[in-house]
Parts: sequence; structure tokens; C-alpha cells
Amino acid sequence: MRFIAKTLYGLENVLTEELKELGAEDIKPANRAVLFSGDLELLYRVNYCSRCALSILVSVDDFRIRSKDDLYNRTLKIDWSSVLNPDSTFSVVTVVNSKLFVHTGYPGLIVKDAIADHFRKNTGRRPSVDTNDPDVMINLHISNDSVNLSIDSTVVPLFKRGYRKAQGAAPLNEVLTAGILKLSGWDGTSPLYDPMCGSGTILIEAGLMACHIPPGRSRPFFGFSRWKNYDVELFSKVKTVCDGRITGLNISISGGDISEQAVSQAIENINSAGLSGKITIELQDFKDAHGHGAGEYLVFNPPYGQRIKAEEIENLYRTIGSSLKHNFPGCKAWIITAGKEPIKNIGLKPKVKYALYNGSIECILAGYELYQGTRKLRAE
Ligand SMILES: C[S@@+](CC[C@H](N)C(=O)[O-])C[C@H]1O[C@@H](n2cnc3c(N)ncnc32)[C@H](O)[C@@H]1O
Repeated sequence: MRFIAKTLYGLENVLTEELKELGAEDIKPANRAVLFSGDLELLYRVNYCSRCALSILVSVDDFRIRSKDDLYNRTLKIDWSSVLNPDSTFSVVTVVNSKLFVHTGYPGLIVKDAIADHFRKNTGRRPSVDTNDPDVMINLHISNDSVNLSIDSTVVPLFKRGYRKAQGAAPLNEVLTAGILKLSGWDGTSPLYDPMCGSGTILIEAGLMACHIPPGRSRPFFGFSRWKNYDVELFSKVKTVCDGRITGLNISISGGDISEQAVSQAIENINSAGLSGKITIELQDFKDAHGHGAGEYLVFNPPYGQRIKAEEIENLYRTIGSSLKHNFPGCKAWIITAGKEPIKNIGLKPKVKYALYNGSIECILAGYELYQGTRKLRAE
């Protein structure tokens, strides 16, 4: 089976590594996606265990077309019976960029008709379309004359881990957070501290990683569970094997925030993620915080300034720079923020920078090495 794991901009390489570890084959990174091969068991495992994928599509067919009739005829010939039956419902989600179609909704209608006709011809009955809550979600991607038809095995995106009870003012996407942790090089064996933890996403994703808890463990639903070929026993076996690797927490994961509300939201989410008692949170201004020892990773996303005056935000980032320099010797700090200006105000030279997006906001993830003693920050 050929699969397409969709992800966020900038996470293609970390997702590639993760898929290798999960047993994927023929892995090819693409734009906001990684293509790979495997069997049904791998599909279940990746849905259950991937931290950096948004959804996993099963590729059904790739072909070229010269007309709308080509799209209809090829779709009609596909054997849809392994996932759909006449009692199932389905919908078609389209991404179309082609001169062959003036109206982007039209190719979706052609595919719906072809699937309905496929079943009518073979069984005399046809599955119905349900755009709100379909059993099978089909993705149609057309770029010029090249078409990919795939089935979404995830449906509810994988960043919806199921643990978020308290929303927070500006929470990071869970997939982006796991990607940031992987880009930082943190491997779950060093202490980790988020001094501006908000609703706790970084701490929770770190806790799940360090304890090898599958990110899908609290999810109530995966798209493949409504397919005709759903193998309950196989999925249950996958879960048992993956859950069997869960360990306790052998490192310190801690957080802080200046806002009382954020602290209580973080605690609520940590408890809901099954990590209660493992992560400590303090009500604290970052300027008063100190490192917990050399080798500690600080990973945080300070406010970007949308709701704060420019002058205050400049001061905040200057304070961050000076606190990092004086209070965290021997630590590594990773900061995700919007645009170049805040990074300049920190006043330290990042060792490495990555371009990422937080929703539609263009961001920089900057990594710093904070040297001990009199040794100055070094640019490499
Ligand atoms: C963008 S939010 C972090 C969101 C968080 N990563 C999440 O996923 O929910 C920034 C947080 O920084 C906190 N903050 C702002 N200034 C601070 C300071 N001086 N010390 C500690 N926390 C601060 C805010 O209260 C806010 O919760």
C-alpha cells in the first residue's frame, strides 16, 4: 500500500525519521507531506503513534487526464469495494489546480458520480454522499493533468490528541509542538523546562515522548475504523504492542507562567493527558527563573505581540535574552516566535534557525547554546 502522511511546513524531515522508526518503507519527503509504503498494520501504527503527521492518506490511484471523461472513466474502474459498500456513506474533498476545470467543485461531482455508478453497475445499489459525517472520506488532488485519488484514514486530524480540556489563549498545535521538540534534538533523556507554558502543550508533548506514550492513546476515533475492511483485532494488537513500551518518567519536566489562569489550564491539560504528578508547574515571571542544571533544555513560545504593545514586547524579548545569558548557564534554549524582530531583541546569536508556521503566522524556531562561566555565546 502507498501512503501519504500530511504534515506542517518544516516538519518533513523529522516526520521522515519518525516514519523510519515506525517501520515505513520507500520513504520520500515531499512538500508538507511524506510518501511511504507499508501494510495495514503500519497504517494503524502510524495513525496511533505518529507525533508529527496530521493525517495519513491511502493512495488509491495516480493517473493523468486530458478531459473530464478521463477522470470519470478511470474512477469508475477503481475497485472501491474494499473500503465502501452500498450501505456506507462517503464524501469527496477536492484540491484542484488545473486549467481543465473552471469550477473547482466540478471534478468532485464527477468522482462522486463515478463511485456511485461503480456500485450501481456492480450491485444495483449505491452508497450515499454525506458531507458532514461520512464513513469514508475520499481525497481528490488534481494538479494540471495529474490526479491522485486517496482515502483519508485519519479524518479527525492527528493533532487532536484528545487531552486538551482547557483551551488557553494561544495554544501551539500539538503536531507543531512535537516537531519543535524533535527539531531541537531533545530526545526525552534530558531535563526540559518551558518557562512560558500557557496551556501546557510543550510540557505534555514532551511528557508523552519521554514516557513513550502513543499520542493517539486518548483519541476516541480514527477514520479507518469505519471502513469495510476494518480489522479490529489487528488494531487492538497494534495498540497493545505500542502501549507495552510505555515507561515512567525518569527526567524532570517542569514549567512556569506569569498568569494564574495559564497555570491552572496547564495543570488541567496535564492531568487529562494522564501525566498528573509527573510535571511540575510554578507561577513565576521568567525574569526570576533559574536553570535547574547544565544540560537542561528550555523550549518555549513567548507572546508574539498581537495583543501587546510593541514597546512591551521589545522589553520582554530583551529580558528573555538577559535572563538566558545570566540564569541558564550550560542549558540549551529553543524559542519559537513570529518574525525576525523578536529574535534580534533577544540579543544572542542563535546557533541554528528553522522556518516554521504557527497556523498562518510565519515563525522562526531559534536554538541557543548558553555557555557556562565567562565563555561567551558562540555563533557556529
Ligand atoms: C504564546 S503563550 C504560550 C502558549 C503555550 N505554548 C501553549 O501551547 O498553550 C505565551 C505565554 O507566556 C506567558 N508569559 C508572558 N510573559 C511572561 C513572563 N514574563 N514570564 C512567564 N510567562 C510569561 C503568557 O502568560 C502566556 O501564557
